[in-house]
Amino acid sequence: MAGKEQSIRIENETNRTLLHGILSAARGAGAIMAGASPHDEDVMSKGGRANYVTVYDEKVQEYLLGALSKVLPEAHFVGEEEGQEVFLPEYEHGYTFVVDPIDGTSNFMRGYHPSVTSIGLLRDGKPYIGVIYNPYTDSLFYAEKGFGAYENGKQIFTSPDPLSHSLVSMGTAPYYAEEVTESAFLLGNWYLKRSIDIRRSGSAAWDLCLIASGRTGLFYEPILCLWDYAAGACIVEEAGGKITDMHGRSLTYRGKSSILAVTAGVAGEDYLPPQELMRV
Ligand code: IPD
Ligand code: CA
Ligand code: CA
Repeated sequence: MAGKEQSIRIENETNRTLLHGILSAARGAGAIMAGASPHDEDVMSKGGRANYVTVYDEKVQEYLLGALSKVLPEAHFVGEEEGQEVFLPEYEHGYTFVVDPIDGTSNFMRGYHPSVTSIGLLRDGKPYIGVIYNPYTDSLFYAEKGFGAYENGKQIFTSPDPLSHSLVSMGTAPYYAEEVTESAFLLGNWYLKRSIDIRRSGSAAWDLCLIASGRTGLFYEPILCLWDYAAGACIVEEAGGKITDMHGRSLTYRGKSSILAVTAGVAGEDYLPPQELMRV
């Protein structure tokens, strides 16, 4: 028994070191973002409509690749700017960092915040640690599986409010099929009638922090990539919320998915969007 207790204590200490290493990497990434002043010549198109990347997205990713490989050298690394969208079989085992260096690039380019850095760590293909840092408000969100969710060191919980007393946020990437974007707006109208109002932040990772901290009650987006939601999903669940795809199915954490996140207050209600308005 003494041996078991000791090994649990040691594992927890190791986890603390791991978490602190990731938090410090997130702060370092935030410092690069906050110190940047992107100009037109720093912006490149990634193809498709209004799909941009800046030299700072690349700089932040390079920094995180270096910092996180020191924190956990054996972990795989999936970063948005590497373009590795396919979930490889080796991510099923051991650790994988899933990183969005700057989530909210369109905001970042125009000094319209929020933009955040988002670092998810999967263990055996499932969320294990999530860290999201918004350098413009100095808000550091993090969660570790089984240990709760925190904002700047204070434990956070989703709201108990029903949908009718909640704000709803939505995501609408312009680079996917037009019918997908259109259906996001039709659903916005549907939720508008059932909530206080609709919001659109421009950063899906930040939207998930807003759910986790009780500021909003429901968030949806028809298509998100794993790096957009891996960290936020861990934070939402540890704050007592529920995250699924837009049909209410469990997430597989294998790549692109629709996302629907709700608070504890909304989770007990009939909140799923009507099938006839869905295009995913
Ligand atoms: C985007 C943001 C946006 C969401 C898009 C994402 P990026 O990420 O999270 O809110 O609507 O679907 O692609 O391109 O700024 O990293
Ligand atoms: Ca993103
Ligand atoms: Ca990004």
